[in-house]
Amino acid sequence: MTIESEADVEALKRIGRIVATCMKEMGEAIEPGMTTAELDAIGDAFLARHGAESAPRVTYDFPGATCISVGDQVAHGIPGDRVIEAGELVNIDVSACLDGYFADTGGTFEVPPYSPRTRKLCMSTRRALQDAMSEARAGAPLNRIGRAIERRAKKAGFGVIRDLCSHGVGRALHEEPEHIYGYYERRDERRLREGQVITIEPFLTTGPPHVWEADDGWTLMNAPGKRSAQYEHTMIITRSKPIIVTLAA
Ligand code: CO
Ligand code: CO
Repeated sequence: MTIESEADVEALKRIGRIVATCMKEMGEAIEPGMTTAELDAIGDAFLARHGAESAPRVTYDFPGATCISVGDQVAHGIPGDRVIEAGELVNIDVSACLDGYFADTGGTFEVPPYSPRTRKLCMSTRRALQDAMSEARAGAPLNRIGRAIERRAKKAGFGVIRDLCSHGVGRALHEEPEHIYGYYERRDERRLREGQVITIEPFLTTGPPHVWEADDGWTLMNAPGKRSAQYEHTMIITRSKPIIVTLAA
């Protein structure tokens, strides 16, 4: 969507705060031995308490309130009986809608003990998000987002998952501009516009640049044993820095 009023901004900030706080509380609740269904239940209850509806559930009939991807699962993991173990990476992606406005956030949480390699992967992915946000302003070529992400990944010695993109959001979970690539796509001539609402969500990986769909029809997997990280914000494009709406309370 494109922002048309201050009311749009306020409404996006409301749902943005809900999804961000939801993800934060879920992240803080992670403990080895719990199942991803138990973790999802915390998010489900949080959204219900705040009057918000899970966006993947209402949009795609996703079998869960949030997407929880563990280990070599990259994204769209279905909450279930998988037990979270020590030393694992857990990605939580929370998107929801309130009063017709959608916000989308995600983050990768490290379950101790930390490994230097996954620590670096997470830190580099956070930096990739920061780098990309600093390029995202009205009038700028859209492909600067992917360029910034790819540069950061290369510098750190990681790959980018090319199949997963950032996207427009606001009145639906996924809308125009679709396919904001996580790598530099020279032929992409689109430009960012003032008031546009988008996500930026780099996926960095220790493995190959592609994902495969698991037999459950949802979960996207990287190669066995490989690890990936993702951090995602929803933001409003302005002539200077974007306004991040997915900030936790
Ligand atoms: Co998301
Ligand atoms: Co997203």
